[in-house]
Amino acid sequence: MASDEKEHGMDRDIRRIVPEDLADVIVNENAAHITPWSEKLIVESIQASINNKQQAWLLSYCNKPVGHMVVLPIEDQWELLNIVVHPDFQGKGLGGYCLNHLFQQARNQSVHSIYLEVRQSNSLAINLYSRFGFIGIGVRKNYYRKTQGWEDARVMQAFVNSI
Ligand SMILES: CC(C)(COP(=O)(O)OP(=O)(O)OC[C@H]1O[C@@H](n2cnc3c(N)ncnc32)[C@H](O)[C@@H]1OP(=O)(O)O)[C@@H](O)C(=O)NCCC(=O)NCCS
Repeated sequence: MASDEKEHGMDRDIRRIVPEDLADVIVNENAAHITPWSEKLIVESIQASINNKQQAWLLSYCNKPVGHMVVLPIEDQWELLNIVVHPDFQGKGLGGYCLNHLFQQARNQSVHSIYLEVRQSNSLAINLYSRFGFIGIGVRKNYYRKTQGWEDARVMQAFVNSI
């Protein structure tokens, strides 16, 4: 297991999202992302998680909801669709805590590999993913909207048993 936690203790928690989490998810989503998911997409994702078509988790820090993570499981290939830590709580190891949880879940469910797409400019996220064994396997041209124009996505893959 990757050692990613900068702080240890009982100050952080992650659990499956329930419909009552909607307002908190919207706040954290809008605070963290340049182009956040719409409320409609978030509602659909929570419903999909309840139906086990996706897996969505709520991250808390000192009992406060501060982020979330959403995965699309397709047999033994998972796709990380979203991971968010509210900007006020970034840099505390919480993103790494989420990814540790993701890999634990994936291992428990005999997942082979996890894929994700990330903005080419999001070096902070790319560094974090690299620490968890993700490597770049391709580029999607002009995939993400920017304030002005578009930017490429880097497609990354990690083998679950490699960390
Ligand atoms: C990507 C994201 C989830 C990472 O969450 P996080 O809680 O900051 O992650 P961590 O603290 O575990 O680690 C992030 C790394 O960046 C550093 N970092 C993060 N925020 C920082 C800040 N505000 N100041 C200084 N360093 C910071 C951490 O020290 C750490 O570096 P390291 O890997 O060299 O130790 C978070 O930045 C985020 O929500 N970003 C916006 C949404 C997004 O881009 N999601 C990814 C889409 S693919």
